[in-house]
Amino acid sequence: MSKLVSGFSKFSKAEKINWLASNFFSNKEESIGILEQYENQDQILQQLHDEFIENTISNFYVPYAIAPNFIINGKVYAIPMAIEESSVVAAASLVAKFWSNRGGFKAEVLSTTKIGQIHFTYKGEKNDLEHYFTQKKSTLLNATKDLTANMKKRGGGIVDIELRDKTSALEHYYQLHVSFETADSMGANFINSCLEAMAKVFENDEIEVIMSILSNYVPECLVRAEVSCDIEDFFPENSAYYAQKFVQAVDIANAEPYRAVTHNKGIMNGIDAVVLATGNDFRAVAAGAHAYAAKTGTYKSLTNAKIEQGKFYFSIEIPLSLGTVGGLTKLHPLAKLSLEILQKPSAQELMQIIAVAGLAQNFGALKALTTTGIQQGHMKMHLMNILNQLEANVHEKKEIVKMFSGQTVTHNAIAKALHDLRTV
Ligand code: MEV
Repeated sequence: MSKLVSGFSKFSKAEKINWLASNFFSNKEESIGILEQYENQDQILQQLHDEFIENTISNFYVPYAIAPNFIINGKVYAIPMAIEESSVVAAASLVAKFWSNRGGFKAEVLSTTKIGQIHFTYKGEKNDLEHYFTQKKSTLLNATKDLTANMKKRGGGIVDIELRDKTSALEHYYQLHVSFETADSMGANFINSCLEAMAKVFENDEIEVIMSILSNYVPECLVRAEVSCDIEDFFPENSAYYAQKFVQAVDIANAEPYRAVTHNKGIMNGIDAVVLATGNDFRAVAAGAHAYAAKTGTYKSLTNAKIEQGKFYFSIEIPLSLGTVGGLTKLHPLAKLSLEILQKPSAQELMQIIAVAGLAQNFGALKALTTTGIQQGHMKMHLMNILNQLEANVHEKKEIVKMFSGQTVTHNAIAKALHDLRTV
């Protein structure tokens, strides 16, 4: 039977599931049961989720958790995180507690400008194009008047339009490079609508617009977060040695892209979990962050560490384009709740919170890597996954967790312990 299908989006949900079952499921009843189990019984809520995207057949859950005890600029936060990786929230909570006893995190927004571009080709004289652009600039702005009216009231709008000659990179290629302020919204739809409106009035017989789209590279929408402490407060024993080792670990990420990618992945564990929990676009944030990590032409660490005059300093600088209004932030009930837990932050405050989540995650990873190694904590948190894989019951889980407290967790060791428990 052919697995190609036409008109799939027009099928009802039941028809979609039946089609899937006939084509892909070996145990139809069991697989349909799983889809139904994840379907929300509240019809209104389910419909809301169904309408976020096309062709929905159920929901895909990710755990939603809280990392409490973050002090940022003197204010206490409990940070909501949506993530499946076992040790991320545990690490964030530990690190938050650690720094809450050392003055907490400091964060500041360095800039908030976002970028959109109209990419076009032009084969004529550059001078003529420059003249045409200068003449047309106010018409371009005028074309967005209706779209920008509300945004202007909120302090945002179009900041600047620049004509950029990109012909040295690609023949006949120019662009209008447009800067935006989008206040508390991420602004993707706003930026794209403005660009398309401008492109329509800019295009002429000689200018062929190829596309108009925002950029997820936002190096001018930048936030910085930092922690610091006296070296002797860094570690209970051999503090200076461990602080130095920590700094070397960051230096290695700055010198070696293979390490930098993993180092930054750990940062994104914290960043993406909060971005997702607050209904923001984690793909956009990840793309922008990694591009920023490569801004010098070499992929490097997003964090920096140093020891100066007896003090340890650890910081992150990262571009984050986020919203606390619009998009999913109000529409997804859990995203809305996350923002309530975060005490209804502005977009700038959310940038600071999320940068801190990334810094904390990197701190947790590097502290483990340069001391005990990562597996001890990872496997401890992974213990429940192993027990679930081995179908341990509630009593068995309790016993094994007790048994392995302070012990090295491996899949084999757990399987053996469970087997022994079952055969007594
Ligand atoms: C795992 O998800 C993240 C780490 O690999 C990050 C790192 O190595 O810094 C632990």
